[in-house]
Amino acid sequence: MSEDKKSSVLDRELGRARVKRGFNPSEMGMAPLSLEVLVTGEALPVDFYVPIFREKTKKIEMTLAAEEGEIYKPAWRERLKKTNQTKFFVKVDEGEAINDYFDRNASKILDKDNSPLSRKRSVVKEMANLNLRVLFGSDLSPRALDNSVKRSQDAVERMARDPMILTKLVDVLSVDYSVYSHSVNVSMLGMAFGKYLGFDQSRIMSLGLGGMLHDVGMSKLPGGLGDKLGELTPREKSVMRQHPRLGYKMLLPIGAVSYDVLMIVQHHHENADGSGYPAALPAAKVPLLARIMRLIDEYDQMTSDRPGKPALTPSQAAGILLGDDIALYGPDLAPEFVRFLGSPAFTQ
Ligand SMILES: [Fe+2]
Repeated sequence: MSEDKKSSVLDRELGRARVKRGFNPSEMGMAPLSLEVLVTGEALPVDFYVPIFREKTKKIEMTLAAEEGEIYKPAWRERLKKTNQTKFFVKVDEGEAINDYFDRNASKILDKDNSPLSRKRSVVKEMANLNLRVLFGSDLSPRALDNSVKRSQDAVERMARDPMILTKLVDVLSVDYSVYSHSVNVSMLGMAFGKYLGFDQSRIMSLGLGGMLHDVGMSKLPGGLGDKLGELTPREKSVMRQHPRLGYKMLLPIGAVSYDVLMIVQHHHENADGSGYPAALPAAKVPLLARIMRLIDEYDQMTSDRPGKPALTPSQAAGILLGDDIALYGPDLAPEFVRFLGSPAFTQ
């Protein structure tokens, strides 16, 4: 079993603990990071916590494992590994300090030929994931928004630069569902599928950035609706349908966001038969990259664990894409995507 597969299993276990014991790191304002993202000899940018199950209270509690400023040593890593702690948690409101740490240190891992592929992937995925948590935060200043979009673009460029990062995605995509891990998944899938289709680099990059940003309008929905994972009421559903346009408006003034990316954000919920939103456009009027995002978005939702909806396997999801729902994605596109899922581009 690959390292990445192991971390997916760990995510699942964490998911079960959350369901069983009411453990939800997001509600505590915490985000997970893997040990692999830390660089030996560098000071920790923030406090790090590990979840410990307390017999006495029968609850999982976040316990301080290392303090900001402590120098990260290999022995520390070994100690945590011995206790099966491969992930630690940080406070999301300190995300900017960790993003700065990534900016300073990521190249020490990513530009080294001898860094294991699994570690490079962890760094790129977690850089992107944490940056999205900051990007989805409330009341970002225009400058912070600009910085965050630029960081998303950096992550996409990293993935494009090292072709190995996008190989064997079947084992790499996160199974635990959050809008952040989902956005990183669809970004990676979009780039790999674009490459499979023979797209030029510019369109592959647009699929990557579009995937990262497609749901950013969720952060502008009222009442924390964007964070709600369970079933929505009809009223909530109609509010939720505003997120593509809100995302479009939010990204319109940002120079780094191309027209193709804006179209992905605005039209990633249009259905090929004209039954989607916000504009109910038929396939012929929706830009191809937005149609691809519609398909990949659905695929990733189906193959991730969500409340009350356990993850489907890729082949189960493929069956649905080609079944009655094919009218939503188009008979020209869905079979092509399913062929990609069965190809070495996805599985090897
Ligand atoms: Fe969406």
